[in-house]
Amino acid sequence: MGSLRTQVGIIGAGPSGLALAQLLQLAGVDSVVLERRSRDYVLGRVRAGVIEQGTVEILRRAGVARRLEREGLIHHGVEIAAGERCHRIDFTAQSGSVTVYGQTELTKDLMDARDAGGAPPVFEVDGVVLEDIDRERPRLRYTRGGKANVLECDFIAGCDGFHGVSRKAIPAAVLKTHERVYPFGWLGVLAEAPPVSSELIYLSHERGFALCSMRSATRSRCYLQCELDTNIGDWSDERFWDELASRLPAELAGRVVRAPTIEKSVAPLRSFVAEPLRYGRLFLAGDAAHIVPPTGAKGLNLAIRDVDQLAAALVAHYAERRDDLLDAYSASALRRIWRAERFSAWLTSVLHRYPGRTSFDRGMQLAELDHLVSSAVARAAFVEAYTGF
Ligand code: FAD
Ligand code: DHB
Repeated sequence: MGSLRTQVGIIGAGPSGLALAQLLQLAGVDSVVLERRSRDYVLGRVRAGVIEQGTVEILRRAGVARRLEREGLIHHGVEIAAGERCHRIDFTAQSGSVTVYGQTELTKDLMDARDAGGAPPVFEVDGVVLEDIDRERPRLRYTRGGKANVLECDFIAGCDGFHGVSRKAIPAAVLKTHERVYPFGWLGVLAEAPPVSSELIYLSHERGFALCSMRSATRSRCYLQCELDTNIGDWSDERFWDELASRLPAELAGRVVRAPTIEKSVAPLRSFVAEPLRYGRLFLAGDAAHIVPPTGAKGLNLAIRDVDQLAAALVAHYAERRDDLLDAYSASALRRIWRAERFSAWLTSVLHRYPGRTSFDRGMQLAELDHLVSSAVARAAFVEAYTGF
């Protein structure tokens, strides 16, 4: 059996696990990242695209923002469309901005930094088991290439996403979960086509929600609200672009470039919060701890803020022999998380078509959107939440 020792054992090489390892290394704290999938699989996943300014600052501190700041698209506003009406919400009055930069690219930058730091993740590990998490010396057992291994740690960070093992290691009597499952999903495509507009368009339409986003001036990332049991095989590129155009105001529909898609996938929507985020020497961060529906573009941003807070707490433990930040992690992260949950659930509820929606419900949605675009106070609250508190 292989035996290894580290200060922080990290499960998961998504953005949260990789960023945590990077922040810890810069402060002289050792970690080992265990990842179930292959490097190519992790690098190939297409997901988030909107990065808050506060997240950019953390990534800069982590030494991984150089390419993001060179190639990312800075946006100072967003479009909200309903029916034939389209309104721009401007961020500049609040000095707000977001950077449009794919999670795929960010993951690559983080992975390159781990490689350069001489501590790449351990890929393709199986059967990770957490042991003695409520004792001084927790352990991670796993197999790799058929060989059993044990990683002895001081702390374990569960950064293994919603379906990971770490949250499940917290005894059921301790763990509370709060969940809302939505009766629809998002069908997303990536295509080598110029975006419909230079800014993101969030659409509320009788036929359902749609989002026109981008990865560059020549690459579009678009989403359609879809049924949960959507079969991708039923969605030819032609059908996707026709449906998107049908939900856009006529003037914008004419700008849809029907290029072949490079990627197509369906994601279910969920709101979820676990608490506490700490049990003994185990700390949860990112999607392992919480899920937001993607509408507010908060998931990746929350994940990076979680690990920034957790890294600071772990560094205080080692460098200053202080545990107050570790003790405060769960409660203080949860406050931030619930605020993002509120915004994401609200934006989801006003933009999507719900089964059984009455004409009154639709009237309420349109009134919410009207209020949002016509009230300076409502716009300011939106900008505060969307660009990051
Ligand atoms: P993950 O990225 O899920 O990484 C977890 C890692 O752990 C994975 O690599 C997984 O393979 C590994 N793992 C799991 N189980 C185990 C195990 N047992 N052992 C070892 N490894 C394991 N967020 C935004 O902020 N802005 C957006 O615009 C946005 N858009 C989105 C659009 C879509 C369609 C989707 C699906 C998500 C979007 N998100 C967005 C959310 C964002 O992608 C996630 O919040 C983010 O990936 C969370 O990172 P993470 O590292 O916590 O988890
Ligand atoms: C993207 C995804 C989102 O969930 C969102 O709200 C905005 C943009 C994107 O993938 O570009």
